[in-house]
Amino acid sequence: MAVLPILHVGHPNLRLRARELSLEELHSGDIQRFIDDLVETMRHANGAGLAATQVDRPLRICALEVKDNPRYPYKPNIPLTVLVNPSLEPLSDARFDNEEGCLSVPNLRGRVSRFAELRVRALDRDGNEIDRVVRGITAGTYQHEVDHLDGLLFLDRVEDRTTLATWDQWKAHREAAFIETVREVVARYGS
Ligand code: NI
Repeated sequence: MAVLPILHVGHPNLRLRARELSLEELHSGDIQRFIDDLVETMRHANGAGLAATQVDRPLRICALEVKDNPRYPYKPNIPLTVLVNPSLEPLSDARFDNEEGCLSVPNLRGRVSRFAELRVRALDRDGNEIDRVVRGITAGTYQHEVDHLDGLLFLDRVEDRTTLATWDQWKAHREAAFIETVREVVARYGS
């Protein structure tokens, strides 16, 4: 396994729409090793998720995992999840304000409106079908990762640019209020 270099905002390949994989490709040693590397890279960087486009492989694969994450200590845990060829469908118009950061956008955070309830369809790394509902903060993390596969960064979705903050400034001025928002979202949606 290997820790892969992560592209930063400004690299044109972050803006590519990643392509679907066939089952045959997914089962290949190359792609299985790549998924191992993607997970290792995500963990090494303390990411809550990482998309293949962020490590310069324009394929529709992303990984998510939150386990008492030091970058996002308020985030509800998410077991290790690998999504291949994912599609997200909002289940209602309900939205919440998420405050996001990204390994490809060093030292910046901002407020993004996300759907609160999603149906997720994808394949897992073995090609088994995933069909599940995710809600709340976790739904925000899913939307952030799948956006990467469409060449989108959270920056593109920040409507109020006065919410942009370095991590230090975010901690000093925004974290306390956002932790209250997270509590409300978790109370309402369970995650
Ligand atoms: Ni990101």
